[in-house]
Amino acid sequence: MKTIENIKEMQNEILARKREGMSIGFVPTMGFLHEGHMSLIRKARAENDIVVVSIFVNPLQFGPNEDYEAYPRDMAQDSKLAEAEGVDYLFSPSVAEMYPNEPSVGVVVQKRTSVLCGKSRPGHFDGVATVLTKLFHIVLPDRAYFGQKDAQQVAVVEGLISDFNFPVELVPGETVREEDGLAKSSRNVFLTPDERKEAACLHLSLEAARAAIESGKKNPETIRELITTMIENQTSGIIDYIEIYSYPELEPIEELKGRFIIALAVRFSKARLIDNMIFNL
Ligand code: PAJ
Repeated sequence: MKTIENIKEMQNEILARKREGMSIGFVPTMGFLHEGHMSLIRKARAENDIVVVSIFVNPLQFGPNEDYEAYPRDMAQDSKLAEAEGVDYLFSPSVAEMYPNEPSVGVVVQKRTSVLCGKSRPGHFDGVATVLTKLFHIVLPDRAYFGQKDAQQVAVVEGLISDFNFPVELVPGETVREEDGLAKSSRNVFLTPDERKEAACLHLSLEAARAAIESGKKNPETIRELITTMIENQTSGIIDYIEIYSYPELEPIEELKGRFIIALAVRFSKARLIDNMIFNL
């Protein structure tokens, strides 16, 4: 595995591999790799000649009161994990390398961001779309891998790739979970032991919603109430949102049918956790 910090060097390596006819799979991350990231890396390894993983904690996608400084980092461990999975290139540029000057151009996401995390994190998805535009131009991937845990991010990236005509295939990966159902996240380390136990409720409430829907409940409000009651009664977390929308358009629906998402975000003392379930009825 080759670790590269310089943009030009990364681009030149990729161009050389492309001239040799090799396909490029790309897994963009902010590091502190866990099983969620690893499952995307394994999928990329199985489907491409060359696998590139980027590790870059992107300041542009963090709000002023968010955890940019505190975001967990462990480059030595990440490097070991990536190497063990057969990653070819680990791209880990500095902030100065990625943003040497105040940017003169940025990407603005026009749709799919006025709800869910986009609503409580203004500018977040513009930051994601901007860094991904840069990374796609640097890594020139044939396929890019994103986890369904961040379902709104997948919806935004789908719009970015299609509106800007990136010759990139978006490959979604299933959410990887702890044994009790909690979605793996780099931010889980910020939970207190009690909060960690309670956090299993996020997934359990979505499972309860699924059971209710399968038993014939078709009203979004009923399902929202069921999830709200469970989380309020069984955790100390504060609900940021519990919402139901069409997917991937993220528009309101009156009846639970077709393709839709139930998504939630809950704030604990030092971590805000998200989870979701996508249905196709
Ligand atoms: P990060 O949070 O590091 O996540 C990198 C990728 O791993 C994302 O596609 C995310 O959806 C996926 N992932 C995280 N937890 C997962 C889980 N439990 N199961 C499956 N996949 C999981 O998302 C970002 O970084 C950034 O916004 C980025 C796209 C790199 C742009 O800066």
